[in-house]
Amino acid sequence: MKGIILVGGLGTRLDPMTRVINKHLLPVGRFPMVYYPIHSLVDAGIRDIMIVTGGNNPGEFLELLNGGSEFGLDHLYFTYQQQPQGIADALRVTEHFVDNDRCVVILGDNILAGSIRPYVDRYREQPQGAHILLAEVPDPQRFGVPEFDQQGTIVRIIEKPAQPPSEYAAIGVYMYDELLWEILPALELSARGQYEITDVQNAYLARSVLEHDIIDYGWSDAGTPESLFRATAMMLESEFLPELKARDQSRSAPLD
Ligand code: G1P
Repeated sequence: MKGIILVGGLGTRLDPMTRVINKHLLPVGRFPMVYYPIHSLVDAGIRDIMIVTGGNNPGEFLELLNGGSEFGLDHLYFTYQQQPQGIADALRVTEHFVDNDRCVVILGDNILAGSIRPYVDRYREQPQGAHILLAEVPDPQRFGVPEFDQQGTIVRIIEKPAQPPSEYAAIGVYMYDELLWEILPALELSARGQYEITDVQNAYLARSVLEHDIIDYGWSDAGTPESLFRATAMMLESEFLPELKARDQSRSAPLD
């Protein structure tokens, strides 16, 4: 299983904070935002991780993370998305890296207060297809939203619906098999000029091979001032990065 973290995009909803600094390097609690998705993947037992950067100053990720030793990794892979044309488009540059394996994709601004390991383990057992995670949210119109039938099966996912068909968000953790590489070239640009990740999910649904879990712990995106604040408050409380936290606290102890 390969891991992919997407840290491109322009972060316009956080302007002017993101005019110079990449959104995923902004602080969330005690750590830069990108630390959390890396930890989520490592915690799920994934050791081959590619970071897809974009926009200005992509080299700052190398400077911060270098080979990932802080997370117990031997190496990290980096690549660059030339044009900000959406999440699905960013995945195209990872095909060579994934190389017939399966992958877990995390959007770099998605912060989880618990482990994705049980869900990734379930996907390891899933014979084929994709697996997504849902969270109950108060503002589903900001996200990809699943519509369920009477049996609780997802019939489609709608990106940012004005009238959400459920109270759930499809969060930015996606697990894909090799069908992804057939789906991506067939995608069309959406009305907002992006290759939508929701269209990838719907393509898996059309083949009846999309499964899901509903997470039972805190989750937030961090792409707006309000959600960045929520993610920060959540992670200051959370014990999700215990090893890093211990190291961080011992280093600052003499000064406290
Ligand atoms: C993206 C996806 C959306 C998903 C969300 C999770 O939205 O398009 O389906 O629910 O991430 O954070 P964005 O925040 O990029 O607009």
